[in-house]
Amino acid sequence: ARAMAAHADAHAAAAARRALDVTQVVGAALVDDRRRVLVAQRGTGGLAGLWEFPGGKVERGESDLSALVRECREELGVLITPGSFLGEVPLDGVVAGGAPGASTLRVWSGRVTGGELVAHEHSELRWLPADELEALDWIPADRPLLPAVRALLAAR
Ligand code: CDP
Repeated sequence: ARAMAAHADAHAAAAARRALDVTQVVGAALVDDRRRVLVAQRGTGGLAGLWEFPGGKVERGESDLSALVRECREELGVLITPGSFLGEVPLDGVVAGGAPGASTLRVWSGRVTGGELVAHEHSELRWLPADELEALDWIPADRPLLPAVRALLAAR
């Protein structure tokens, strides 16, 4: 019952944010058949050089998962199939110009199911095993998701 209530709370919070028209960000932890996950290094902007799970802003009227599929197509040139929800991290407000925590980064697992992987927007893409994730210089928002990603890779 507690999990159900937490789920309902998260759902209500997500709906409230959408109603306020605050920008949300989605990311994909894409895994392969060798227990590796795709990590991407940002090439431009204030976060240049830092590593992230590929993704981006959800557009007005777009669902989280549609945004996830679109961003992977635009940034990586691949078709993905989203898997399980891995977690949500508050962003610092810079993204939406709103209050701290008003925007969140929501991350799903996923698989590449078509296309050829090309770094259209990142300076580098790497498939890494679980034990090489911690050492990367991550965007702060992405790092709290590493335990969930490691668990995902261990369970495969
Ligand atoms: O591609 P788009 O312009 O929609 O978005 P983005 O520049 O990739 O991401 C927007 C913002 O979300 C970034 O500036 C980061 O602050 C945040 N972000 C993040 O924290 N972690 C990610 N994995 C992706 C984005």
